[in-house]
Amino acid sequence: MKSFYITTPIYYVNDKPHLGTAYSTTLADILNRYHQFFGFSTRFLTGLDEHGQKCQQAADLKKVSSQAHCDQMTEVFKETWAKLGIQYDQFYRTSNPAHKVLVQKALQKLHDSGYIYESTYEGWYCISDETFYTEKDLVDGLSPSGNPVTRIKEKNYFFRLSKFKQPILDHLKKNPEFIIPAHRQNEVSGFLNKDLSDLCISRPKSRMKWGIELPFDSDYMVYVWVDALLNYVFGAGLWCEDIKDPEYLPNEKEFERWWGSSFHLIGKDILITHSVYWLGLLLALNLPLPKKIISHGWLLNKDQEKMSKSKGQVIDPIQITEKIGTDSLRYFFIKYIKLGLDSPVSTSAIVDEYNQDLSNNLGNLLQRVSKLIHDHFDSKVPDCAEKNKDEKMNLLISQTEQVYKSLRIDIESFVPEKGIRSLMKLLDSTNKYLEDTQPWKLVKTDKEKTGAVLYVSLEVVRVVTSLLQPVMPASTQEILRRIGLKDQSYDQIPSSSLKSGQVIEHGSPIYPRVSL
Ligand code: MSP
Repeated sequence: MKSFYITTPIYYVNDKPHLGTAYSTTLADILNRYHQFFGFSTRFLTGLDEHGQKCQQAADLKKVSSQAHCDQMTEVFKETWAKLGIQYDQFYRTSNPAHKVLVQKALQKLHDSGYIYESTYEGWYCISDETFYTEKDLVDGLSPSGNPVTRIKEKNYFFRLSKFKQPILDHLKKNPEFIIPAHRQNEVSGFLNKDLSDLCISRPKSRMKWGIELPFDSDYMVYVWVDALLNYVFGAGLWCEDIKDPEYLPNEKEFERWWGSSFHLIGKDILITHSVYWLGLLLALNLPLPKKIISHGWLLNKDQEKMSKSKGQVIDPIQITEKIGTDSLRYFFIKYIKLGLDSPVSTSAIVDEYNQDLSNNLGNLLQRVSKLIHDHFDSKVPDCAEKNKDEKMNLLISQTEQVYKSLRIDIESFVPEKGIRSLMKLLDSTNKYLEDTQPWKLVKTDKEKTGAVLYVSLEVVRVVTSLLQPVMPASTQEILRRIGLKDQSYDQIPSSSLKSGQVIEHGSPIYPRVSL
């Protein structure tokens, strides 16, 4: 059985999830569920990046300990993910004692192999980004992301990242689709082709108390990005043989399997930390590189800026789901946003998309067909004799077969929006076909032909709904139930055509129209 391991970034705990972080996690969940649907054995990891000054500051503000703050935020994140239908296998927390042991083991190995040295660091530090910046990185005295910086000079430990410039460039050259979309891979190559400095991987305890101690100098903590980036390998089971913690589900034996098929979803703002720092660390630890890094764009607010708490105008994902339902928000993320590109998002865009695609297109088709079957065929799926199939019907049947095949290709190539948009086009064509054939009139003169029209249209509903299960698990299940079916795996779809005579249910609209 083929394997699929997918991760999200582990989120900072200074804020509750907003629409941007909800997008990342939902996208990973949908990709994970699609792979399960296609028959892969899957593993999905998300979690929290709990150490560092950012967390320390948030805890101080609340007058609680850093650990207590992280515990509270864990509940907030878990609750939000549950409400968004996210089904992860592991919720990775960097304050977990097992993670600490593993990070220290990694740091000791790097130290023992001569990849870590001591020196003085002088430059700018940005707490919000948890990143060091040089003079030339600053934009109008602020970090590139627009956050304040402070000047620091201190003794620190450095990782010989520059040694890995060429090996990373070679890897990118050999694997042109290692980072997707392609323009992000070019961005990383461009970055590497400039001077690559070594990476400062420590923070003096006097300045940073909440973190993991360096195993070879107890006056220092591990730089939070180094601590965090290691989560993905440990979450796949690396060195976990002695860890008895039930949070660490995989065992060492599983590491190779997961790591050989590991896909890492990240936002474009953390491309360099992942594609340069992280890969350098993995190479230095003599570990294989992951399969792919997938970089998504940003959800933008109405001023075309990255949606974030500091900029205001954030949309609360839970409030939106209260309006249109969890499934519909999941649908919006996957259909509306092109993976890899920035996308302006507003409440009205979300509501419009819902009304147009789910209420008017899928929902309307189901309502029309089930009502006619209810009224004229005693709620039983009609017959569809070969002789009643016309050219337009055959076209719909072949479009359905085409969409079935291409959806899998689009998902596995990480252009999910393309696959989903083709499902909507098929529904459009089917609604148009009903407008053209007018079965509500045709039934008075040709009942057999009407039956065939309705059969083929309901088949479209069946296939499209089955293909949307990973996106909208709850509402698709209800549609399938109404037409007499249970969960469908991808492979089952071609052979589970509707049976004539099967009783179906005509119920109230599954996606009722909503207004702003
Ligand atoms: N803790 C680091 C990641 C460490 S991974 C080893 C971090 N955390 S974060 O909470 O600031 O951001 C996590 C992810 O959320 C990033 O991938 C970021 O791109 C994503 N997003 C935050 N705001 C976003 C939008 N407005 N739109 C889309 N994604 C956004 O960075």
